[in-house]
Amino acid sequence: MNALNPYCPDLATVQEVIQETHNIRTLRIRLNDEEKMQDFSFRPGQVGQLSVFGVGESTFVINSPPTRKDYLQFSVMRVGEVTKRIHELNAGDPIGVRAPLGNGFAYEEMKGRDILFIGGGIGMAPLRTLLLHMIDNRTDYGDITVIYGARSPQDLCYTYEFDEWRAGGVNLVLTVDAEFPGWTGRVGFVPTVLKEESPAPDNRIAITCGPPIMIKFVLFGLKELGYEDHQVLTTLEKRMKCGVGICGRCNLGPKYVCLDGPVFSLDQLGKMVPEL
Ligand SMILES: Cc1cc2nc3c(=O)[nH]c(=O)nc-3n(C[C@H](O)[C@H](O)[C@H](O)COP(=O)(O)OP(=O)(O)OC[C@H]3O[C@@H](n4cnc5c(N)ncnc54)[C@H](O)[C@@H]3O)c2cc1C
Ligand code: FES
Repeated sequence: MNALNPYCPDLATVQEVIQETHNIRTLRIRLNDEEKMQDFSFRPGQVGQLSVFGVGESTFVINSPPTRKDYLQFSVMRVGEVTKRIHELNAGDPIGVRAPLGNGFAYEEMKGRDILFIGGGIGMAPLRTLLLHMIDNRTDYGDITVIYGARSPQDLCYTYEFDEWRAGGVNLVLTVDAEFPGWTGRVGFVPTVLKEESPAPDNRIAITCGPPIMIKFVLFGLKELGYEDHQVLTTLEKRMKCGVGICGRCNLGPKYVCLDGPVFSLDQLGKMVPEL
């Protein structure tokens, strides 16, 4: 972050662009200031505001882990003006970045625990950063299971590194919504596959991110399996503007998602929004 002015983006350059799916692109960027790039530290789950000059700024999770410092990675789904313009960027193009913002995952407190990641579509992005961080510190954690689903095989992100996840001791369960020619993974919605897998809640933390409808039924499923609210984490995508707790745009009850989130336990969310 710019120490003098938190609204002023740092200049960065796109290093590489990966087309993940028809509407999701991954950008690998480096800050232009090499010293800042070397010193850049963050927690998995923290976000950045990416800006396309003359167009605007939007929020994306940093989905490379802090253990891998060659670049900062962001995966961007094209939904509107800023994301459309981000999709037009190529290697060598300039981009602005204000990061890191938000709280991130308390991964130290997860040491010694079994971990269950449940992701849908682009919702795998915030999970990926924590997952890779855990693979890079594998002996600190117990069983790591990932249930990851998308509409079709073509809508899954990060397919090129699934072998690396498996080699890192991850039990990877992939699912798509319907049968597709050549697909050998599971078929069914993520909450259904969660029920079929039924990972026991003992000593486990469950972390979920995806479309709201998926999260809703995943949370029901986890409750049925006996998970308590403090064992379940999710990351919220509440719209942000300043990102530093000043404008009030992202408040949820008495909390600001940009400062107190975007990672919350179900326990915390229940206190902030009692109707949840
Ligand atoms: C903490 C956080 C982390 C995020 N991480 C990622 C990420 O890693 N990858 C990614 O692709 N996207 C992520 N997003 C969402 C991303 O910020 C928005 O999609 C982006 O701002 C859209 O900008 P735009 O100008 O292209 O679209 P706009 O023209 O601003 O919006 C296009 C459409 O999307 C809706 N929309 C935009 N933002 C949101 C939002 N936050 N919640 C609900 N609806 C919204 C608008 O209402 C509109 O219908 C994250 C958002 C937050 C708050
Ligand atoms: S985005 Fe401004 S207070 Fe959170």
